Amino acid sequence: MAAENHSSETAPDALKTPAAAGQERARPGPARLLTGLTGSLFGDRNGRLQDHARRLEELHRLNVELEAEISERRRVEDALRRRNAFEQEISGIFANLINLPSHRLSQQIVRTLEAVARYAGADAAVLWELTGDGGELALRHWWTAERNSVQLEPLPKYPVNPFGWWMDRLRAFETIAISNRDDLPPEAENERRAMQDLGVRSVLAVPVVIRGWLKGFVALWAVRSEVQWQAEDVPLVRLAGEAVASALERQRAEDQVRSLNSRLERQVRQLNALRKIDICIASAINLRTPMEMVLYQARELLGAAAAAALLLDEQGRSLRYAYTDGIPLAALGSGRVRLGEQLPGQAALGEEILRVDDIEALPPEHRPHSPALRTGQFRACCAAPLISQNRVNGVLELLFDRPISPDREWLEYAAMLAGQAGIAVGNHRLVSELQQSNRELVAAYDATIEGWSRAMDLRDHATRGHSERVAALTVRVARRLGVPDEELVHIRRGALLHDIGKMATPDFILLKPGSLTPEERAVMELHTTHAYDMLSPIEFLRPALDIPLYHHERWDGTGYPNGLSGEQIPVGARVFAVVDVFDALTSHRPYRPAWPREKALEHICSLAGTHFDPRVVEAFMQELMEQEGEEPEEDGGWREAA
Ligand SMILES: [Fe+2]
Ligand SMILES: [Fe+2]
Repeated sequence: MAAENHSSETAPDALKTPAAAGQERARPGPARLLTGLTGSLFGDRNGRLQDHARRLEELHRLNVELEAEISERRRVEDALRRRNAFEQEISGIFANLINLPSHRLSQQIVRTLEAVARYAGADAAVLWELTGDGGELALRHWWTAERNSVQLEPLPKYPVNPFGWWMDRLRAFETIAISNRDDLPPEAENERRAMQDLGVRSVLAVPVVIRGWLKGFVALWAVRSEVQWQAEDVPLVRLAGEAVASALERQRAEDQVRSLNSRLERQVRQLNALRKIDICIASAINLRTPMEMVLYQARELLGAAAAAALLLDEQGRSLRYAYTDGIPLAALGSGRVRLGEQLPGQAALGEEILRVDDIEALPPEHRPHSPALRTGQFRACCAAPLISQNRVNGVLELLFDRPISPDREWLEYAAMLAGQAGIAVGNHRLVSELQQSNRELVAAYDATIEGWSRAMDLRDHATRGHSERVAALTVRVARRLGVPDEELVHIRRGALLHDIGKMATPDFILLKPGSLTPEERAVMELHTTHAYDMLSPIEFLRPALDIPLYHHERWDGTGYPNGLSGEQIPVGARVFAVVDVFDALTSHRPYRPAWPREKALEHICSLAGTHFDPRVVEAFMQELMEQEGEEPEEDGGWREAA
């Protein structure tokens, strides 16, 4: 055992075995006194008396020895009983140390220390652990009897360097047993002073060694009076120390696994959130959905009390709060922040994440501003720029109602969320710009189509605005018949271009005042297929070809160019046929005056079921009747969809 190796200053009185505790010697007995008194009085009788006295003395001696033996046996039996009871108690405690969940371990360790201290007659038991790569001693767990005055709080941490004498012995796995602190050698002056400061008179320290490494030590302290430590107690104290240290190691390993697990779970949740945002960005038709998802995830996974997104305006001069979560948009006042000003403006201009971990820790003159911070609801803030394709689009602002101390993982995730939000805003900007370009292109095409139709009206000697008028009325009748809006735009373009094929008809036929010969009529009828040949290569106009190609087909199948009948004829062409004939009849032509409206309507009605689709004629009549009561609009009420 290590205790025997102690230096001469500490060892001799330090550990005493029970046998060496001092045997009482037999005192002078009453037989000797009796012999002195009777010797002179009774002469020869003395011999007998002396024999009797010797026997008495012998008896007394035997009695004393028996008493000593009985006493020693009782002492040994007591010690054995005490040790058995302690071993029983400590084995129960050890079993608990192994089986207890780690959150209840501290309590059990204190119980262990208490049992060891009580058994050894100490006033306190403390477990010190080596930390900081063995450079520091930390007081991890302790028990003190209520009656003593050892003050252990707040938890102290000591550098080991000043206690070289002490540490050298522990590193050699030796037990240190000091009954009186003044017995410490001069080179252990720091140790003596530390004991004095703590009011410790005697100490028994056993090293805690796990897998060959010194992890710390268990120290038993006596405060009220000196204690002579018993050698046989040392192995038990050592065992208790190692059981406690093993349990702590297990707890640390479990904590580490738990911490790794929770970190892994957090990372999986973060990745899932990023994936959801990705899908949302790819599929959302608006910006609100992905932005609201980013703000929600920022609150869920970064622990923010509120989150907001500011978007940079078109001119790139100021930011405006556009979306919020956890705080109403209205609470942010005007919601405008100039670029370079306040926390969000500085983050956007500097293209960097700016943070205030605890606004109350800053002097008022150094506290940053933002409309959200001005509400007074938040103590910490993080502003991350939204960047996409090297362009700042806005700022993500995370707001906390408590101080924060973010780690690297947290900051990386905040940057990732800001990156996703940046992509969402960037994509939305691109789509908006594309849609705007598309709108401008469509407007330019439509202006071109209108120009062509006016040119055709002029060449055909049709009345001014014929194509515009018939296009507008065709759209209205088609809408009445339930044609969807997205098809009406093609119907309008087809109506404007209905006679575009006449550009290929020779003037002498097109402009002939009288009737056409059969040959001339055949040439004239070719304008429908000419229109198809001219327009079909233009993809933009391909859906508008029904009217230019089929506007001379008839319901009864007697029209041209293909002799289609009934619903074989596209609905746009069936509607247009009615409207075109009506407009032509009611317009003045060089070769005939305009028909009165009623006469033209009668004519149209008379052709329902032969020339025209009767259902279309009916819708046309209803449309005209409704029109009578209202001022006709410039474009027949048509508003083109984007
Ligand atoms: Fe025509
Ligand atoms: Fe026409």
